[in-house]
Amino acid sequence: MGNPESSFTRVADTSEVPAGKMKAVKLKDEGILIVNVDNTFYAVSNSCTHKGGDLSKGTLEGNILTCPVHGSKFDVTTGKNVYGPKLLMFRGNAGDLKKYELRVKETNILIYTRSSWGL
Ligand code: FES
Repeated sequence: MGNPESSFTRVADTSEVPAGKMKAVKLKDEGILIVNVDNTFYAVSNSCTHKGGDLSKGTLEGNILTCPVHGSKFDVTTGKNVYGPKLLMFRGNAGDLKKYELRVKETNILIYTRSSWGL
């Protein structure tokens, strides 16, 4: 059994993501968005499930993140899509965002990663 701590990778310092702010990071070619909601950190995919919009350019109000492209809304605490994209006069559908396991150790923000063997 490996050390479970070794499955977490440092992606940012807590000072880089103040309350109410977001920061996009890359981990193993995956774009991940670190979000600070009332000094609790969350990590979700940075790519909108509708058409891949860059969510780091979206707007954050409380725990709700709005995609800058067609306005889908996501709850960053769960990754859930709470409002679909606006397409002309209609609301379309978008899936939920992938949520990543995150830990804070001292001032380090760590994201869980699987080893290349899937362990
Ligand atoms: S790409 Fe995000 S709502 Fe369309």
